[in-house]
Amino acid sequence: MKNSQILEVKTFNLADNQVSRWHSFTSQDEINQATLKRILQAADEAIAKHGSFLIVLAGGSTPKSVYQMLAKEHADWANWHVYHNDDRCLPVDHVERNSKMARDAWLNHVAIPQNQIHDIPAELGNIEGAKAYAKRLAGVRTFDLVLLGLGEDGHTASLFPNQAVDNSADAVPVFNSPKPPSDRVTISQARLNNTHGVLFLVTGAGKQEAVNHWLNGSAIPATLIAPACGVDVYSFGVKLG
Ligand code: 6PG
Repeated sequence: MKNSQILEVKTFNLADNQVSRWHSFTSQDEINQATLKRILQAADEAIAKHGSFLIVLAGGSTPKSVYQMLAKEHADWANWHVYHNDDRCLPVDHVERNSKMARDAWLNHVAIPQNQIHDIPAELGNIEGAKAYAKRLAGVRTFDLVLLGLGEDGHTASLFPNQAVDNSADAVPVFNSPKPPSDRVTISQARLNNTHGVLFLVTGAGKQEAVNHWLNGSAIPATLIAPACGVDVYSFGVKLG
């Protein structure tokens, strides 16, 4: 892949060793193309191996352009199963819902069976929504690919700094999120780590401080994501050391 530089970085946090492989890109188009390629490759491999592809979507704004590219692809959609790593406790059609963003950008435009698109029912509130999503995740095998974003404070999914990490269930309620709205539902750290692949998408100078903490081994929430397979970080617009 032209112009991409791979920097092998081993970082530690207080709880787990995390192996992170950093791929820096020189344009938004390059990181989007690389992300699309990674997702489609992961889907082909998972479907060949398991007959299904379980992907967990990142929320926020960063992944939207990749979701829009997926809407134009011809893939084996009948075998895709889509989950969300978190969502905000807002009405189903609220513009700030992660599930609405993904449906508008991608899922409403491809033939993934509706019963294989697993929105978090965050409109029920954080406690009931988490209970319902934990039930939805019961018995679901190891994820194939978890997409994650990075907040400017180092959060990922809805795992925020200085908040107790609740691994009591596969999906848990979030209270007092520093990123509005305060009430959210997130897949737990433990369940996010039960995956065959993790891809962080990190773009923009606003994430530089969080990346600096990450690369110097600080225990930010992003470093809680430490599956045995390690994590890949695709970055653009941030300096890696
Ligand atoms: C959310 C996300 C959150 C997001 C980061 C990055 O609900 O907001 O789950 O973890 O991925 O905050 O957001 P941006 O991509 O908008 O910078």
